[in-house]
Amino acid sequence: MIYQVYVRSFADSNGDGIGDLRGVIDRLDYLNWLGVDVVWLSPVTVSPDKDWGYDVADYRDVQPVFGSLADFDELVARARDRGMRIVVDLVPNHTSDQHPWFVDARRSQTAHHRHWYIWGDRRADGSPPNNWRSTFGKGSAWQLSPETGQLYLHSFLPEQVDLNWWNPAVRDEFDEIMRFWLDRGVAGLRLDVAHAIVKDRALRDVAPSSENDVLVDLDETYAVLRRWRRLVDAYGEPDRILLGETWVMELERLARFYGRGRDQLHLAFNFPFAFSTLRAECLADVVERTFAAFPEEAWPVWMLSNHDIPRMATRMCGGDERKIRCALLLLFTLPGTAVLYQGDELGLEQAAVPPDRVRDVDKRDGCRTPLPWTRDGGWIDPWLPLGETARNVADERRDPGSILSFARGLIARRRASDDLRSRSYERLGAPAGVWAFRRGASTLVAVNLSDRPATVEGHPLNPWDGVVRDV
Ligand code: GLC
Ligand code: CA
Repeated sequence: MIYQVYVRSFADSNGDGIGDLRGVIDRLDYLNWLGVDVVWLSPVTVSPDKDWGYDVADYRDVQPVFGSLADFDELVARARDRGMRIVVDLVPNHTSDQHPWFVDARRSQTAHHRHWYIWGDRRADGSPPNNWRSTFGKGSAWQLSPETGQLYLHSFLPEQVDLNWWNPAVRDEFDEIMRFWLDRGVAGLRLDVAHAIVKDRALRDVAPSSENDVLVDLDETYAVLRRWRRLVDAYGEPDRILLGETWVMELERLARFYGRGRDQLHLAFNFPFAFSTLRAECLADVVERTFAAFPEEAWPVWMLSNHDIPRMATRMCGGDERKIRCALLLLFTLPGTAVLYQGDELGLEQAAVPPDRVRDVDKRDGCRTPLPWTRDGGWIDPWLPLGETARNVADERRDPGSILSFARGLIARRRASDDLRSRSYERLGAPAGVWAFRRGASTLVAVNLSDRPATVEGHPLNPWDGVVRDV
């Protein structure tokens, strides 16, 4: 079970309104109490914060507002004391335009780092090198660099410059960056934009009908993933993982990021699952098609929220506590790794952030507001406003009937159950709107995602209720 900590909004140790590494250390007991195995930290590396850490200016140091490398090492050690491990976020697709490599590269066409990035010339009619679009705003993904008159590629903001993964020097450098963090004892890396690292070498246009903004060389992207897999596997015990942000909407394409099952990513995020509606037919369909598409040894990973998409409590559940419990029950009882975004254990809803407080280029602030530790939040003048605090850690911890207690109970049950930790899944017959399956020899899971009472294998289920039972 992996818990995603969005560091800026998790816990603030020094009252400057910004979450930090010391704050995470201070709350390790909470995460341990909840039953977390692994903590994935959103980027803690040095960044001008045009995209809140996802524009890296130094891959080998900690953003000062978060603390220091010494704090990071302490976090790894204190987590290990509690049997927990840390995963760091690595951003290999692009660097900040402030990164020394790009500051050098833009200077001249013969600069040492010039071909660490992707350059093109205007076409005869003055238009950009091709029709690629940037994810934010969907304008051209090319930006003129006045020093040389050439344009550079940015799949995201103009301040996030795409690296040239055809260049062996870039691959070598990132091997060293990975070792830098692995040598510090991390459990692995979450790989940002893992589905699109290597671009088409000839910079050909994307088809106008394509849902892709840039043309990716998938085979070469898989080759890079295999290289990284060899690198992390060479560390031996304890095992390290590669967790890829694989933002693809077809499960057959998702499956390919696992390679033959043991040679590419260990875990590839399943966005079709996250974006499913909370209906038995839809969810069961995505899950079963996932199993069908995956190579035999591939291990699924399920998540419902993250720092980029609206919170599941609002998006899938409309704030209805019964529905939130159903969603959490499924997250923790499906075969595979569960990734829980901070606050989802409380049933935290998407926050309404007033326009003058919006800080994100893509208006994702509503899922990034500070985690409410108490009824008054437990924050001093935080960088983003608090959302609703009726659901908060202190009150929910005290209440055995809360969403938090429910989530913790599920996590404990899963830890204690060979059935729930196994691969096995067998769909059981159930009335419309109900999803029921057997895990292992003797664990029954059923959720009634409908407005009518139902009975499954002799168990009565209220509308929007679920059970996990030994049978
Ligand atoms: C990933 C991150 C997102 C970021 C983008 C560009 O999708 O999760 O927050 O904006 O990459 O780095
Ligand atoms: Ca702070």
